[in-house]
Formats: sequence, structure tokens, C-alpha cells
Amino acid sequence: EITADEIAQIIEAHRGLEGPLLPMLHALQEAFGFVPAEAHQPICDALNITRAELHGVISFYHDFRKAPAGRHVLKICRAEACQSVGGAALAEATLKKLGLDWHGTSADGAVTVEPVYCLGLCACAPAAMIDDRVVGRVDDAKIEAMIEEARA
Ligand code: FES
Repeated sequence: EITADEIAQIIEAHRGLEGPLLPMLHALQEAFGFVPAEAHQPICDALNITRAELHGVISFYHDFRKAPAGRHVLKICRAEACQSVGGAALAEATLKKLGLDWHGTSADGAVTVEPVYCLGLCACAPAAMIDDRVVGRVDDAKIEAMIEEARA
């Protein structure tokens, strides 16, 4: 349950910062697991920005979620080094298998698939991450195992 009070408190705690928007959005996502739509207008009011500006920032940073994630989050690297060694095809196959688009969550709520732009594991590309665990040289079988584990 997300209350207007909680949202207001988080906004208030960050509005005095220099460059308050990103810390504010991170704090909201930390608290709720995503940036709730109910927070949009209060943020705009507090920072004197338009909703278009806010949406621009939220969509530019791929880390911000618009909806709650599943129990586990699978991130597949979409940056250059990984793309060039099969990362793109791997991501496409994974999304297709799960019947999802990026940021989508499997029907059983087990896993949300998100893009990430470099995990610092370029030497072991393609790379992916399940929750906090980074995995290098992923292939279909490894991804499959990560998803199975998430579902267990
Ligand atoms: Fe994928 Fe660096 S480009 S880990």
C-alpha cells in the first residue's frame, strides 16, 4: 500500500538537494520497488518541472521501473561488447521464450527481464545478472538455468 504521505515524505527529504530529481526517484524506487504514478504530480510540483520533463528523465534512465518487478530481476547486457558476441540474439530469444517485452514480468511473477548497459564484465561477454549475481559468457542454457532458479 503506497500512501500519499509516504510519497510526500520522500519528496520532502530530497527536494533540498542539489540536483534533487535523480536521488528522489531512486529513493521512491527503493521504497516501493518502482516509481509510482501517484508520485509524478507531487514531484513536478515540488521541483517546478513539467510532466513531460519528468517522463523524459524516467524513460532515459533504464533503472526506473513504472510497475513492480517480479520476485527476481534478470538483466541482460545490451551494450556494445555483449551485443557483438551474441547478446542481442540471446536477449531476443529469452524475451520470446518468456513471451515478454523488455521490462515485462513472467505470468507467474517469478522474473522481470530488464536491459542493462554494461555490467563491467565485457571480457566475459555476453553478460547477464540475476538479482545481485553477475554471470559471464551466458548462453541459452545458462539463461534457462537462471530462469528456472528464479522460478524455484
Ligand atoms: Fe556487457 Fe560490458 S558490454 S558487460
